Amino acid sequence: MLALRKLTLLSFIGSTIVGFWVPLHLIGHIQWPSLELSLNIVTCLVALINLKLHFQRKNLSPLEFKNWLNLGVLLDTLCALPIFPVAFYLEIEVPILFSIINLSAVRHVGVLKEYLDHFDHLSPMSYRLIPIFLTLPLLVHMVACGWLALGNGTAGLEADPLTNYIKAIYFTFTTLTTVGYGDISAKTNPQMLYAAAIQVTGVGVFGYILSNVASILGRSDAAREHHMDNLDKIETFMDLHRIPEELKIKTRSYYHYLWLHKKGYQENTLLSDLPHKLQSEMLYYINNPIIQKVSFLKSASQDMLEDLMDKLEPKIVLPNERIFRIDEPGDSLYFIQSGEVDILARDGSLLATLSDGAFFGEMALLNEKPRNATVKARSFCSLYLLHKRDFVHVIEAYPEFRSHLTSAVNQRQSA
Ligand code: CMP
Repeated sequence: MLALRKLTLLSFIGSTIVGFWVPLHLIGHIQWPSLELSLNIVTCLVALINLKLHFQRKNLSPLEFKNWLNLGVLLDTLCALPIFPVAFYLEIEVPILFSIINLSAVRHVGVLKEYLDHFDHLSPMSYRLIPIFLTLPLLVHMVACGWLALGNGTAGLEADPLTNYIKAIYFTFTTLTTVGYGDISAKTNPQMLYAAAIQVTGVGVFGYILSNVASILGRSDAAREHHMDNLDKIETFMDLHRIPEELKIKTRSYYHYLWLHKKGYQENTLLSDLPHKLQSEMLYYINNPIIQKVSFLKSASQDMLEDLMDKLEPKIVLPNERIFRIDEPGDSLYFIQSGEVDILARDGSLLATLSDGAFFGEMALLNEKPRNATVKARSFCSLYLLHKRDFVHVIEAYPEFRSHLTSAVNQRQSA
């Protein structure tokens, strides 16, 4: 695996070097024999790496002849032949076609995405931006060299190759982005055809870059986007079904509450895609605020908390919503993370109002009796439910949990 990863990186770096060097060689900008020789050797080595990567990645045997019958493999094989170093040694000219063949190695810069796939902790933004920032200069360089090869337009062939190169880069950028100021423009037929081709390419390349940048900017506040998306969907749905204005307002305020308290996400649906172990660890952190609010949980053992956090189910209730009615069978214990609930007797009189950090619904579960009061939300409430089967598991496993609840029951009954 590591070997494959290293080969992929070498292939990317090598292909990038070839992509920078071969066009410069083609337009005659490098006139330093020892550097040329070194770069020619690098080109051969890169081709060998690309061949090895091809066979290793696809698990093909290089000993089978049919595996070599592939255009990409044939091009890489030609690039791997030490034609230039041998010609350099024998002091003979190599036809320009061979340099153009060497240029085919540039297609391997695409392995960068494959290389990035080996990193499991990269953010989505890095996945998008790194390939753009690493391959765009190569594209611009190659196009600029092509422009120089065609005579540099109205920039004028000046003695200083660096100025010429910079002007070509400037022309490439303005043409690729289809801005085209016109100060450097195509004059000859080949130049005009070349400029037209760059513009067409530019639409695709810069369209791709812009869409990525727009998507990165859009995702910089992904939670708000997600919330707005939810709002749009529900608004359309309500319009479609001619929902009365009063109900629409209630629905909007529910979403508003969800946004303020949970950034628009309902964690139980969001986490359902994760493996169980990861879900438990996430829930431990997500449900942690309730530990800080419920006094007896603050002093509870780590084991119990880990067990409990994993089982709590978040629930939001609306103002005036009845959470359960007196005499109903008890199915869960409730913790209040935020909001207020009224505990109402059979005749509707108010027994108590419970708020942040309190719990209710324990009596029916502990005493195996029906609910002894009705519980109604006074405001929006963010609750955590512990279902009966999980409740039974927790009180059996952790007697301190039962004793805390029993003493709360005694207090409430004596009040
Ligand atoms: P349960 O009987 O399961 O359902 C109604 C809940 O209201 C009950 O458990 C208690 O949690 C809560 N409750 C009942 N009476 C009081 C009270 N006087 N003060 C606070 N909470 C109460």
